[in-house]
Amino acid sequence: MSDVLDGTTWTQDWIKQISEASDSKELDKVRIALLGKSGILTQELKKLGSLSVEERRTVGANLNNIRESFERLLNEKSRKIDEAELNKRLQQEFLDVTLPTRPNTPGKRHLLTQISEELSSYFCARGFCVMSGPEVDTEFNCFDGLNMPKHHPARQEQDTLYVKDCANMLLRVHTSTMQVRTFLSTGVPVRGISIGSVFRNDAVDATHTPLFHQIEGFVVEPGITMAHMKYCLLDLLSFLFKVDLCAMVARNEPIPVRFRPSFFPFTEPSSEVDCCCSRKDGELKLDLDGTWMEILGCGMIHPNVFKNCGIEHFEDGTPVQGFAFGIGIERIAMLKYGVTDIRHVYEGDMRWLQHYG
Ligand code: DAH
Repeated sequence: MSDVLDGTTWTQDWIKQISEASDSKELDKVRIALLGKSGILTQELKKLGSLSVEERRTVGANLNNIRESFERLLNEKSRKIDEAELNKRLQQEFLDVTLPTRPNTPGKRHLLTQISEELSSYFCARGFCVMSGPEVDTEFNCFDGLNMPKHHPARQEQDTLYVKDCANMLLRVHTSTMQVRTFLSTGVPVRGISIGSVFRNDAVDATHTPLFHQIEGFVVEPGITMAHMKYCLLDLLSFLFKVDLCAMVARNEPIPVRFRPSFFPFTEPSSEVDCCCSRKDGELKLDLDGTWMEILGCGMIHPNVFKNCGIEHFEDGTPVQGFAFGIGIERIAMLKYGVTDIRHVYEGDMRWLQHYG
């Protein structure tokens, strides 16, 4: 407290009023009564005009000091009140996320959860293990291990989100990291899938978001060839789009799916799989009259990927080999359920959630 305000009884009275103000309204009243247009101090300052020059100098200086000290006190108190009011609001507006839901309004599974669960039960029934790994991973697991050397364009900062001040750490750009993690930890043979979030430094629009979801799958077992990969993926697409592609192949019929040669650093040979789709009554149909859409990437795992994980042979001495594939979950949602704008998937609009849940 200021020396100027000490000792004088009238100032003591105002100090008490300031310290006892319990909210900002009360404090404002005190401020106005003291420093407002017709406030006590303002009135006193006005009286200076009737004093002699000598008196004006000392009384004026004294009053100014008193005013400054009161202003300081008022501001301090105001800050304290604001803080207390904020804390009170934070407490009152606390959201208890553990409360039970309202009766008769059960939530629904999000479309992405639904697709992920459908896919994991499909793969589990076929002997795949579900592997999960961290979203923040090393450059080795995300790139080097997967035969993507330092100069690879995907490693540029405009595509990859690196962790600040943390050498070699990044937000994984694909779930293929789980190949490296699994080969290093579990070894081979292995049949696994991994579903999760991936991140890219993309601007948001109808088909891009910086966070999206992928499923990665891999089968590394003695004797596995590209024919197994084709069967596995045709069976998966049959499940997803409710057609029996494998039966069509067996009957020698043309199928609305094509394996198009492509390139991925971690597979050789590599392929992208396109489906020929059309939409009838809001439902997606695979048929040869539709348009070709890319669905997934796949290929025989590049020998360098195994080498980078210190694996060259199976236990029986045969060279290690297997296939892998990667699918975007949002892509399936957009195709299968006719979602036209990927942003809707994340907005949490109740109407959208009720419809697609
Ligand atoms: N990692 C690829 C991507 O993010 C997807 C992918 C393509 C995964 C081919 C694979 C593969 O395992 O064989 O676009």
